[in-house]
Amino acid sequence: MPAAGGPAPVQLYSPTPSVARFPDTVRQRPRMSPKPIVVVTRRLPPAVEAALCEHFDARLNESDAPFDADRLRAAFAQADAILPTIGDPIDATVLEGTMRARILANFGVGTDHIDLHAARRLGIAVSNTPGVLTDCTADLTIALMLALMRRLGEAAHELKAGAWTGWRPVHMLGARVTGRTLGIIGFGRIGQAVARRACHGFAMRVLFHTPHPPPPDRCAGLGAEPCPDLHELLERSDIVSLHAPATPATHHMINRDRLARMQSHAFLINTARGDLVDERALIEALRNGRLAGAGLDVFENEPDVRPELLALPTVFALPHIGSATLETRTAMGMRAVANLRAFFAGEPLPDRVI
Ligand code: DGY
Repeated sequence: MPAAGGPAPVQLYSPTPSVARFPDTVRQRPRMSPKPIVVVTRRLPPAVEAALCEHFDARLNESDAPFDADRLRAAFAQADAILPTIGDPIDATVLEGTMRARILANFGVGTDHIDLHAARRLGIAVSNTPGVLTDCTADLTIALMLALMRRLGEAAHELKAGAWTGWRPVHMLGARVTGRTLGIIGFGRIGQAVARRACHGFAMRVLFHTPHPPPPDRCAGLGAEPCPDLHELLERSDIVSLHAPATPATHHMINRDRLARMQSHAFLINTARGDLVDERALIEALRNGRLAGAGLDVFENEPDVRPELLALPTVFALPHIGSATLETRTAMGMRAVANLRAFFAGEPLPDRVI
């Protein structure tokens, strides 16, 4: 329980009938069990919430409204652990206010929303959920290529709007996907899964650029060749797909100069992080016809998206749904649960970030 005058408790609920629900009023439950208190910042798939309630004194977010900084601070003050998502900005001020929580079991693989330096300094462990979202994110990357290059958004809209006048040879002409040259920037699990699909499913020539290339036999199996010179990759590719993490080194790596290196018939795909792309420069390149199109699942200032970007007919955009399948989101949650269980059992974290 927070001390009187301490931080306001967060809004709580539990899906299990054995635990009281607190739907709309802000209340603090007395601590009834010796189980660690885990505050969960967003709704999670039912199986995950059930597992959390089984193993922990889980404080769930019934409204699914995002936590602002004050609610995050309050959560840190009352919890033994936090299960945040990639949408929760957890900076040093939030972490420094913690009185109890010693672990952040992040729901998501990216941890760029967490000040890891501050967490390390304060001795707070951080885990993530790698591996389980690889296939679905790679699938969506290919879906974005197809949707953008074959104009699926425009075509579906025309049909639903009753504007289709019938088949004709020059109707809705797009760009061929099969057999193109794909340049992948960042070649971790997801980049490699995209390469496998592109090479073996779409007969693409695959180039990749990464600071840590996998061994040559693995690259050969994926049908991918390393391209140590990023500018060469940009110049040779018909499609450039981003799969690097957001770090200070990758911030705006796709800027005006690099966009100018791409061929004017080329397409940019981003299912990684919006931070990698200078969106102003991208809008300029698309407006000037310096680039054929962009397929985007992520944006610089989510959930705010520049209207100028969305207004461009050469942009096909989705609301960050790369890993959004029930199977994957459940698997991500179970990874977070596994990390929490390991932490409270005094065992090594399966997915320790720091
Ligand atoms: C992650 O886990 O970082 C993804 O962006 C969620 O899809």
